[in-house]
Amino acid sequence: MNTPSHTAPDTVHPSEFRRAMRNVPTTVTVVATMNGDQPIGMVVGTFTAISMDPLLVGFFGDHRSKTLTEITAADRWSFSVLHQDDALAAEAFRGPPESRFSALTWDVSDFGTPLIRGAMITIEAVNDSVVRIGDHDLVTAKVMSLREGDRSRHPLVYFQGRMTRLDPEQVSHSGGTIQAGRSR
Ligand SMILES: Cc1cc2nc3c(=O)[nH]c(=O)nc-3n(C[C@H](O)[C@H](O)[C@H](O)COP(=O)(O)O)c2cc1C
Repeated sequence: MNTPSHTAPDTVHPSEFRRAMRNVPTTVTVVATMNGDQPIGMVVGTFTAISMDPLLVGFFGDHRSKTLTEITAADRWSFSVLHQDDALAAEAFRGPPESRFSALTWDVSDFGTPLIRGAMITIEAVNDSVVRIGDHDLVTAKVMSLREGDRSRHPLVYFQGRMTRLDPEQVSHSGGTIQAGRSR
């Protein structure tokens, strides 16, 4: 029998790990809150749905991030999954915190979080837990509201260190052709 080996090599260097993980595409999501009348936010590629009952979302935040400290101190956040035409706006989030929202149009919701106009999905959520895992925190949040943008549009994708787009070509496999989530 061909038994897979689960023995991890003890010589994986962090830079090798980082380079390999660049091949895992992610969405680009702004997690944000308000500090007085100023929005605070950071881009994360680790945003994900976590639980259906209760409805929970979350992300992993780097302990070195000053913005993460400010975000986890708040009791509520918005998560805006950016649209593929928002690449330039997403790049602004690599810059200083005070200019990150300058290339985006946003409004404050009744719930009190910044909502980015034109996002694929916007979720408002309340702080649920912050769990330390390695050099990151797993931040979980209870979903309070959900807004969906235009379903015919595509999300922005981060891949190999760059903002890119989903390939509009169909993907073929042995069972047929997959298009827009359908197999035929
Ligand atoms: C596409 C992309 C995805 C990112 N994903 C994460 C993430 O999941 N978690 C995280 O802590 N930082 C992530 N970052 C980095 C943060 O956006 C940024 O470095 C952080 O806000 C810097 O901390 P500061 O606000 O204290 O300067 C990502 C950056 C980019 C460009």
